[in-house]
Amino acid sequence: MLQHSGSTQGQDGWIACLTYKSKAAFTPSHSDLEELVHHARIRNRSVGVTGMLLYENGKFLQTLEGPPEGLKLIWSAIREDKRHSHIEILSEHVVSSRLFSDWDLLLYSRAEDRPTPRQDARSEGRDLSDYVPRMTRLALEGDDTRLASQLAALSEEGWSGEALLARLIEPTARAMGDAWLADECGEIDLTIGLSMLQLAAHAVRSSSHAGMLRTSRFSILLATAPGEAHMLGTAILADQLTDAGWRVEMAFPRSDTELINQLRAQAPDAVDLTLSDALPRHHALARLRETIAQSRKAAPENLAVISVGGRLFSEAAATAASVGADYARPSVIGATVRLAQLVQQRRETG
Ligand SMILES: Cc1cc2nc3c(=O)[nH]c(=O)nc-3n(C[C@H](O)[C@H](O)[C@H](O)COP(=O)(O)O)c2cc1C
Repeated sequence: MLQHSGSTQGQDGWIACLTYKSKAAFTPSHSDLEELVHHARIRNRSVGVTGMLLYENGKFLQTLEGPPEGLKLIWSAIREDKRHSHIEILSEHVVSSRLFSDWDLLLYSRAEDRPTPRQDARSEGRDLSDYVPRMTRLALEGDDTRLASQLAALSEEGWSGEALLARLIEPTARAMGDAWLADECGEIDLTIGLSMLQLAAHAVRSSSHAGMLRTSRFSILLATAPGEAHMLGTAILADQLTDAGWRVEMAFPRSDTELINQLRAQAPDAVDLTLSDALPRHHALARLRETIAQSRKAAPENLAVISVGGRLFSEAAATAASVGADYARPSVIGATVRLAQLVQQRRETG
């Protein structure tokens, strides 16, 4: 581990990548975290290390990547740091390129003294984000009747399907993921809640782009990233693309081989791979990158467009380029239009 020999540039360009979790030995305020990250960034930059640090409810999750020698140096300091304990390495490997290239150290935090989005929204007047906590609770309680009637009421008030998806349903999925990360619910509650949300989202499917692209004859394979259990994004996108006239196939492959077999059989114009909308699957990124590389190799010539989605991409913690995709959906909203443009472009140039 991290023994991969190399100069500070990383011999042969190899990048070591380490993800760990730990427990905070104190309750950091947002400014404590900012200060920690400020110093860390300076040091990381000096040895070519990039990555991200997540703090949530007394827990840290950090991914670091860089030349093996540089990473080893940083890691030996972090390991000794008394500000955290119960350090557990979740993954470590060597990759050919970085996932978090743009960030010396990206900080995600939910430290207690930071204004929450809910407070921000309230000070500007009522917004859909005000309903996120209630929707989250209803979904986690499996109360599909109240969930559906809440959405119907908002729809009757005049909120568009697009606004409901982007500003209520997707944030609710993320809030549910946060509840799970904070041990406020079990994995089974999360899975059931996401299915509830999916059914509710189905009912508010957006139609605003449908007319425009209804004549589209493009085809797409919508798949969860191999091994991913959450399928909310895939299901919502299926509604949207079907409305827009696409030929849609869905797949929930357990392995790259299953995905590739389906790609070969279907030969679609595009494929979309989704990670969880609820949880930030940081350590699934390296695997997704490999899946995409395999798909490109195996795909028929006309498959050129590969898109990706999920919480990591919507929060901009990862980019399309970081996993070798053509497009990373920040939301399902607008994805049909962008995918159609990409397929069209590829047809014209290819
Ligand atoms: C959760 C956590 C994450 C940290 N991440 C980094 C980091 O990415 N880079 C860094 O230089 N220091 C990081 N630090 C701080 C180091 O542990 C250490 O305090 C700092 O590098 C100074 O080390 P030194 O006293 O050996 O010079 C982190 C500390 C904690 C508690």
